[in-house]
Amino acid sequence: MAWGIYINCIIMTARILSAKPCVEEVKLELKKRCESLKARGCHPAMSVVLVGDNPASLSYIRNKKKLCEEIGAKFTLHQLLPGISPDDFLKVVQGLNNDPGTHGIIIQLPVTDHLAVLDLPQLVIPSKDIDGFHGENTRKLFEGSTDMKLLLPCTPKGVVNLLKYYGYPVEGKNIVIVGRSLIVGKPLSLLLTNLNATVTLTHSKTKDLKHFTRNADIVVAAIGKAHFLDKTFFDSAKKTVVIDVGMNSQNGKLVGDVHTQDVSEVVSAVSPVPGGVGPMTVLSLIENLITAAEKQIKG
Ligand code: GUN
Repeated sequence: MAWGIYINCIIMTARILSAKPCVEEVKLELKKRCESLKARGCHPAMSVVLVGDNPASLSYIRNKKKLCEEIGAKFTLHQLLPGISPDDFLKVVQGLNNDPGTHGIIIQLPVTDHLAVLDLPQLVIPSKDIDGFHGENTRKLFEGSTDMKLLLPCTPKGVVNLLKYYGYPVEGKNIVIVGRSLIVGKPLSLLLTNLNATVTLTHSKTKDLKHFTRNADIVVAAIGKAHFLDKTFFDSAKKTVVIDVGMNSQNGKLVGDVHTQDVSEVVSAVSPVPGGVGPMTVLSLIENLITAAEKQIKG
């Protein structure tokens, strides 16, 4: 009896899926690929086009610049005035598209509203589209590709690589994605489907969301609401793995979509915010840059 009471008092503590060891490992490989390109006369270079001075964007850009330079690639920020006309904005992107010394380009989102008249995901040519947003690159996901060397959208690629690094296979697993954004939920649902997972794509209008999350092997939270998923969304018997894509600001602090401390009692593993999917996304971007440069010198 006393033993039974003791067992009931044990509090589970989830494994924390930090990006750090994975980033350190892949960084070494990217450094080597960058060196090899330089030895062949190609110095990989990325350009970021930013409109205005959104503090969150500037912070993300600093992380991209840091990793880019750490592996030996070049980084240039093109910071444009918030009032730039669509024509002048197009000229900047087209100039970079035509520049043989630029191998990867991203347009940092969000841009100011008046630029919405432009079809932003299609502006960077597919071969330099290291965000993986262009229709020609996303089409490969619709066609069923599982080739992780393609210019795939960075966050989905980062989520899959984080699960792989920590030894969680996705094949045959019931995976629930919470959030259907164009950058994360939708492309991730395709990538995981191609990798033979059974995917349920849920969103803010899903009825009885907990029914889905409580029955999942893996839950990916990408709904953009601070601490939205607490322990009531999980069934401890399922030993769920939780990946938190959220990047929300709460009282000046960066927090995820998952209440990590709370869910730690009932899930088997959870990725932290900060230090989880964020750095994995940056890693995917820089990996895409090197892949893009390698393909461009092959012609
Ligand atoms: N803003 C927030 N996330 C992203 C991203 O993945 N790519 C770009 N270009 N802008 C972003």
